[in-house]
Amino acid sequence: MKILVIGNGGREHTIIKKLKENKDITEILCCSGNGGISRDATCFPIKPTDIEGVCELAKAQNVDFAVVAPDDPLVLGMVDSLHKEGIPCFGPSANAAIIEGSKVFSKNLMKKYNIPTAKYEVFTEPEKAIEYIEKNNEFPIVIKADGLALGKGVIIAEDLKSAKDAVSSMMEDHIFGKSGSTVVVEEFLTGPEVSVLAFTDSKTVKPMISSMDHKRALDNDKGLNTGGMGTVAPNPYYTSDIADECMKKIFMPTIEAMNKEGRPFKGCLYFGLMLTPKGPYVIEYNCRFGDPETQVVLQMLDSDLFEIMKAVEEERLAECDIKWHDGAAACVVLASGGYPQKYQTGYKIEGLDANGQADGVCVYHAGTSYKDEEFFTAGGRVMGVTARGENLESALKKAYSAAEKITFENVHMRRDIGKRALEALK
Ligand code: AMP
Ligand code: GLY
Repeated sequence: MKILVIGNGGREHTIIKKLKENKDITEILCCSGNGGISRDATCFPIKPTDIEGVCELAKAQNVDFAVVAPDDPLVLGMVDSLHKEGIPCFGPSANAAIIEGSKVFSKNLMKKYNIPTAKYEVFTEPEKAIEYIEKNNEFPIVIKADGLALGKGVIIAEDLKSAKDAVSSMMEDHIFGKSGSTVVVEEFLTGPEVSVLAFTDSKTVKPMISSMDHKRALDNDKGLNTGGMGTVAPNPYYTSDIADECMKKIFMPTIEAMNKEGRPFKGCLYFGLMLTPKGPYVIEYNCRFGDPETQVVLQMLDSDLFEIMKAVEEERLAECDIKWHDGAAACVVLASGGYPQKYQTGYKIEGLDANGQADGVCVYHAGTSYKDEEFFTAGGRVMGVTARGENLESALKKAYSAAEKITFENVHMRRDIGKRALEALK
């Protein structure tokens, strides 16, 4: 089997390493990959959003199956185009990927089908949005750009002035481009956050092990929002009672709602949940694996990933018995100093072996390049050092002890990944 993976980050490196466990897979291709991925797959310099380019490559290379991992190619219809070429895929079609592509769509879906989510209003005119915020007069309030914004389209405003600034920066200054022409203004919720990724073939939904992201750049959840500075799995706040409640009130209702809307979802559906005093609420849906949630979740997956992906595409997920390892996993992200704002790249990375790996851990590369048998930094999030252990403490210990030995100029990592989870376990 020849498999094509579309994407170029830590999530894609994780998926590729897991796919390599399947003995029927003889070759993995990647568009466009990174330094670490180039040690595990053949990389092609075709952008993940270049639908025509990717389809041409897939045809020319006779690939047997494609995995479309990032949000933007999914929302743009990569899976639809690959299907037209007769190539089976893992990932939703564009009409289902809209669950992430438009917050207005996902909020309206939840309202229509009684799926618990924060109260909200939608605005296309800045004056109307501000009028509403003034009248509502409750702070903090949350302002979200409708479309994709590289995970940055959410502003939590602490007072009226910041709310007005947020509305005007999105709707008038277009800081998120067209994504912010329409905004959702919603109620501020509180409680621990949980990420639950789920396999679904639109008939059956099989949640994966839960995880916890650490989105802020600095320790103790200080600093700016990032793509994610580290993760742990499982998430100790997500008890089996809460899991049952989520299945009944959120997971199945979402799958059924998408079917009723004529938008059956096949692939990995990501539920960003908040465990509020009133029960679990949906903060957001993503139409794909999370990054860096995938790094810890797939570390915990005992079953063969490709068998599950094929079963999803062929709508026979109900047959799959998905097994998980005991214990826990942790991922510590090494980032370029300055990320998520300005940072330099091109620094040599020390402490990796010839394949970009290190003892006792899996090093999932995100922003790296490879030249003359050396690895260099090439992005904000550089790599996710990931380990599994018999419990969270041992997973964290392994991940941190390896992470400390990998160095490059201006390296930055959070020192408190998993701290809150450990406290919750006490
Ligand atoms: P999102 O991009 O939708 O995941 O939002 C980014 C982050 O903003 C989430 O992980 C939450 O921490 C926070 N957030 C989003 N919506 C709300 C809300 N209604 N109440 C409180 N926090 C929120
Ligand atoms: N880690 C959050 C996301 O992938 O959207």
